[in-house]
Amino acid sequence: MKVTVVGAGAVGASCAEYIAMKNFASEVVLLDIKEGYAEGKAMDLMQTASLNGFDTKITGSTSDYSKTAGSDIAVITSGIPRKPGMTREELIGINAGIVKTVATSLLEHSPNVTIIVVSNPMDTMTYLVHKATGLPKNKIIGMGGALDSARFKYRLAQALEAPISDVDGMVIGGHSDKGMVPLIGHATRNSVKVSEFLSEDKMNWVVEETKVGGATLTGLLGTSAWYAPGAAVSGLVQAIACDQKKMFPCSSLLEGEYGLNDICIGVPVILGKNGIEKIVEIELSDAEKAKMQESAEGVKKTNGLLDV
Ligand code: NAI
Repeated sequence: MKVTVVGAGAVGASCAEYIAMKNFASEVVLLDIKEGYAEGKAMDLMQTASLNGFDTKITGSTSDYSKTAGSDIAVITSGIPRKPGMTREELIGINAGIVKTVATSLLEHSPNVTIIVVSNPMDTMTYLVHKATGLPKNKIIGMGGALDSARFKYRLAQALEAPISDVDGMVIGGHSDKGMVPLIGHATRNSVKVSEFLSEDKMNWVVEETKVGGATLTGLLGTSAWYAPGAAVSGLVQAIACDQKKMFPCSSLLEGEYGLNDICIGVPVILGKNGIEKIVEIELSDAEKAKMQESAEGVKKTNGLLDV
C-alpha cells in the first residue's frame, strides 16, 4: 500500500506521522514544492520509526512526481492555510491553481489512485478535482466532516461532562463556519439522545462551538490546526487501505442524494477499498434539510468562482 501526501506542511506531515504510526502502509511519499522540505520532514519522521515502532518507509520529494508512481491513495494538503479572521473561502484564489496542478500531476503517475482532498475551501477543491481529473466519483473524497465531527464530539463530551468514548455525533454539510450542519438531534451519549441530558442552551452552545472550531484554533495558533486534521485524514486513508467499510461524513459528488446535484458536500459515506462505496442517506428533520440546502447554496456560490 503506497500513499502519497502532497504538501509536507503542518497537516501533511501530521497526517504522514499518523499513517506511519498506524503501521498499515508499506510506503508514504511526502512531496512539497519547497526545496528539501519534504525530504527533511521524511527523514525526521523516519528517525522516529525505531522509537515509535513502525515499519512504514517514509520518503520525501521536491516536486518529483515520478517518486509518487503507483500510489494507491494520495492526499492533497498543498496550498495556503487561513490566518486569524480569514474564511476558508478566501483561500480559493491561490489554492485552486495549486490543487488543479497537483491533481493532474498525481494522475499522470498513478492512474488508479484514490484522492483525498484536504486543501481549503475543501468542498470546492474536491469539486475542482472531479472537473480536472475526470476520475470516477468514488475515487475522490473530501476530508472535512471527519474533523468537524471529532470537534463536535469534543464539545459534546465537555457539555455532558462525559468521556469522549461515550459520545457519538456527526457533522454534515459544507466545511465552513456557516455551512456546517452538526446533527445535534442525532447525537448520543451511550446510545441515548443527548437532548435527554442537555438543555436547549447547552445544545446550542455545542453547535456554535463546533461551527467555529477551526476559527477558534486559528485565533489561538495564528494559523490553522494540524493534529486533528492529520488524524482525521489518516482515519480515512486507513479505512480505504484496510477495506474497513467504515462510515465517515465526507465531501462527495452528489447526483440526487439529499436532493442535491452537481456539488461536493459533506454526507455520510462508507469507505472501503473502492473509496466511497456507498452514500448513506440518513433521515433528516425539516430543519436539518433546510440547513443542508442553505449550506449547499454557499458551496455552489464558491464553486461559481472556479474557472472550470
Ligand atoms: P502549510 O502552509 O503548513 O503547508 C502547506 C504546504 O503546501 C507547504 O509546505 C507548501 O510549501 C506546500 N505547497 C504549496 N504549493 C505546493 C505545490 N504546488 N506543490 C506541492 N506543495 C505545495 O499549511 P497546512 O496548515 O498544512 O494546511 C494545508 C491546507 O489544508 C490549507 O489549505 C488548509 O486550509 C487546509 N486544511 C484543511 C482542513 C480540512 O479539514 N479540510 C483542516 C486543516 C487545514
